[in-house]
Amino acid sequence: MAQFPQQNGPIGVFDSGYGGLTILSEIRKHLPQYDYIYLGDNARTPYGTRSFDVVYEYTRQCVEKLFDLGCPLVILGCNTASAKALKSIQMTDLPLWNPDRRVLGVIRPTVEQIDSFTKTRHVGLFATVGTVQSESYPIEIHKLFPDIQISSVACPLWVPLVENGESASEGADFFVKKYVDQLLSQDSQIDTVILGCTHYPLLLPKIRQYLPAHINVISQGSIVAASLDDYLHRHADLEALLTRGGACHFFTTESEEKFKKSAAIFLSEDVDVQRIQLC
Ligand code: DGL
Repeated sequence: MAQFPQQNGPIGVFDSGYGGLTILSEIRKHLPQYDYIYLGDNARTPYGTRSFDVVYEYTRQCVEKLFDLGCPLVILGCNTASAKALKSIQMTDLPLWNPDRRVLGVIRPTVEQIDSFTKTRHVGLFATVGTVQSESYPIEIHKLFPDIQISSVACPLWVPLVENGESASEGADFFVKKYVDQLLSQDSQIDTVILGCTHYPLLLPKIRQYLPAHINVISQGSIVAASLDDYLHRHADLEALLTRGGACHFFTTESEEKFKKSAAIFLSEDVDVQRIQLC
């Protein structure tokens, strides 16, 4: 296994595909002073329907690549990877690679904020099949707030809708309404819903349309960004290693042309992207 000496470098943001771009955008808005590398494993997306072992192995390879590219800190901007791979990477791989490098996920920062949104203590979750089956959200929520009841609905068709640029189409209405109705039929007291997949903010206008107006909808981007800011204030040694200048480099495991076209759905800027091999 490779070892990575600690060094100065950019913040790495990883996702199985494009969804992590919603997290990257918010982090860059909040912390524009740092340099960033985004890596999308577009050749092997989606992760949401894959087994624990496969998600762990794919995520591990991508984190290793981001360390190899010089990132002292990697954010798993993907709920499925955060649910299925983060703990194993932190406990098994980091000690061997370099315990001073850091890997953080998106679930814990989201869960930490949930208390300030819900009054009824009934919360809903939309996420991928993998994230729902992992039960990471209920487990993490109950560690901090044992009184909160959580109901989950897996939405396997939302990621393909977003990736194919169909978020605003009439076809999207059917599947947004379907999963919203499923959630509300499980628990009518829900007053807060977590969008537990980094693609879902692009469906927010439609989700909002079918959810009763009194229900809060939590998108993760700004929460993850604020949490990272706070983390860096508490970890000055790590923060001092982050290079500054606002540069952002994009890497994909799929074709560069495809990435550029699809990234435009998520970002309002043209991106320069480079294809890389993982092994
Ligand atoms: N980005 C992933 C997440 O946040 C969803 C996409 C996938 O299934 O790979 O869960």
